[in-house]
Order: sequence, then structure tokens, then C-alpha cells
Amino acid sequence: MTAKIIDGKAFAEGLRTRIAGHVARLKAEHGITPGLAVVIVGEDPGSQVYVRNKAKQTVEVGMHSEKYELPAETPEADVLALVERLNADPAIHGILVQLPVPKHIDPNKVVLALSPDKDVDCFTPASVGKLQIGLPGPVSCTPLGCLMLLRDTLGSLEGLNAVIVGRSNLVGKPMAQLLLRENCTVTVAHSKTKNLAELVRQADIVVAAVGRPQMIKGDCIKPGATIIDVGINRVPAPEKGEGKTRLVGDVDYESAAAVAGAITPVPGGVGPMTIACLLANTVTTASLINGLVPPKDLTP
Ligand code: GUN
Repeated sequence: MTAKIIDGKAFAEGLRTRIAGHVARLKAEHGITPGLAVVIVGEDPGSQVYVRNKAKQTVEVGMHSEKYELPAETPEADVLALVERLNADPAIHGILVQLPVPKHIDPNKVVLALSPDKDVDCFTPASVGKLQIGLPGPVSCTPLGCLMLLRDTLGSLEGLNAVIVGRSNLVGKPMAQLLLRENCTVTVAHSKTKNLAELVRQADIVVAAVGRPQMIKGDCIKPGATIIDVGINRVPAPEKGEGKTRLVGDVDYESAAAVAGAITPVPGGVGPMTIACLLANTVTTASLINGLVPPKDLTP
């Protein structure tokens, strides 16, 4: 079998077009322009690229965008004060503080300072709790993107065996919640799991989010399974020339694609969905803050 390639780039483009439609309606019918503030502390080049892309795409869908680039040595109190100011700003409906933050800043303090109403990352305890019990609110961006791709590929997910590899707060745990809500049977595997290959071999759906390049090989994939690869790892690529690198996922694409029914590529699979879902969450929070029902096609 040769797997169908799940084109996250194309899906994200379509999603952004729908988001732009919702933004235009919020403006025309309710006088609301959804606003997203992105805060980055320090000069991590990878984070800076992400933040620039976020700001660009925010404007492209018609939203208000604010970007705060703070020097690495900014005191924790100043970052918390900025978050408080954005919490109180009526033009802002979503706040994202790019992680990781420099070592002298406690990321938990930053998360706890965020207004849950504007928590477009779904990091605060209130947002995590809402996701768990199924109340309306923002949903973790990458897991929401994975869920949209899974539904588009498979339709109903009911009764399927899903194995998530990785238990992070950012991806693994919220992904498990979302797949439980879809009536999947969910297993969360992690670095201490003893029989990983055996578990993955039983999965109709594999979500790989461990951050280990090409760890999951085709020989532990069930024929026809759907593979969602969240990993983005830079590895040496001597075949491209000395010192060159390339991006690979947590799944060994070549061997997995020979067995799977469908698979996300890296790059061009899950990656483009994350920013699109951040914009979707900003429409959701802008709607909820103003007492409106969020658009159904942007929520789980
Ligand atoms: N750093 C890497 N991914 C993310 C994300 O989704 N949100 C935030 N705030 N920081 C990140």
C-alpha cells in the first residue's frame, strides 16, 4: 500500500479562507475586529520566524495584530505587567506568549497571569478544564489542527484505536482529550512505555509527538493506519552538501508511507495547521468575549 498524503498546507489555506469569512462577518454584523497579541522574549531565531509568520497571517485574515518583541533580559515583572495590560485591552481577544521564555522567567507565572478568556493557546487551568469537560473555549492549537486533518481524512473517528506517542501539555495530553471526545479508544505512550512497538501496531490512528527524529518506523505500523506526525526535527543532510540540514518528523516517512493508509508529511502536514488554528481560536475567543456563539467549523 502507498499511503494517501494528508496535505496540511492546502487544508490550512482553506481554513484561513473560512476564518477570513468569519472575521468579515464579525466586523460587518457586530462591529468586532478580532485582535491577537503575540509576545516574544529573547532572540531565539526559530521562535522569531514563528512569531513573524503568526503576525503576517493574522493580518491576512483581516484581524488586528500586535507584536511585542522584548529583549532576553526583560525582567519577569515587566512581562507579567504587559500580560496584565493586554488582559485589560478591549482591542485584544487573544494573547500568546511564545514559549520557551528565558530561564529567569517562570513560564507557569506567565500562564497564570493570562486571562483565560484570551488564552488562545489553551494553557491556563480554566481553559484546560473547559476542554476536558467539553465547554466552549479555545482548544490547544496543534491538537485542534490534528483533529481537523483526522476528521477530513477518516470522517467519523468513533471506536478507532488511537495511540498518541508523547504526553506533553502542549500536544499529547490535549490530543488525548480531543480523541476521547470523538469516542476513540485512546492510549498515551511516552518515554517510559515498555511495549511501544506493540501498542503502535494496534493503532488505527497514530499521533507522534515525541521530538525524536524518525523514531517510529513502518514495521510497527498497522497496514492502513492513519499517521499524524507532529514532530519537526532538523537533522544533518550530507547528501545536500556539507553542513546542510533537512526537516524530518518523529515518523520514518518512507517506511511508514509504504504501510499506512494516510500520512502527514514533514514539512507541509501538521505544521501549517498550528498557526491557522491559533487564528481560529482568536475568532472563538472574540466571539465568546462578546457573548456570541463561536463558529461551529472552528471548534471541535
Ligand atoms: N512554542 C512552540 N509552540 C508553541 C505554541 O503553540 N504556543 C506557544 N505559546 N509557544 C510555543
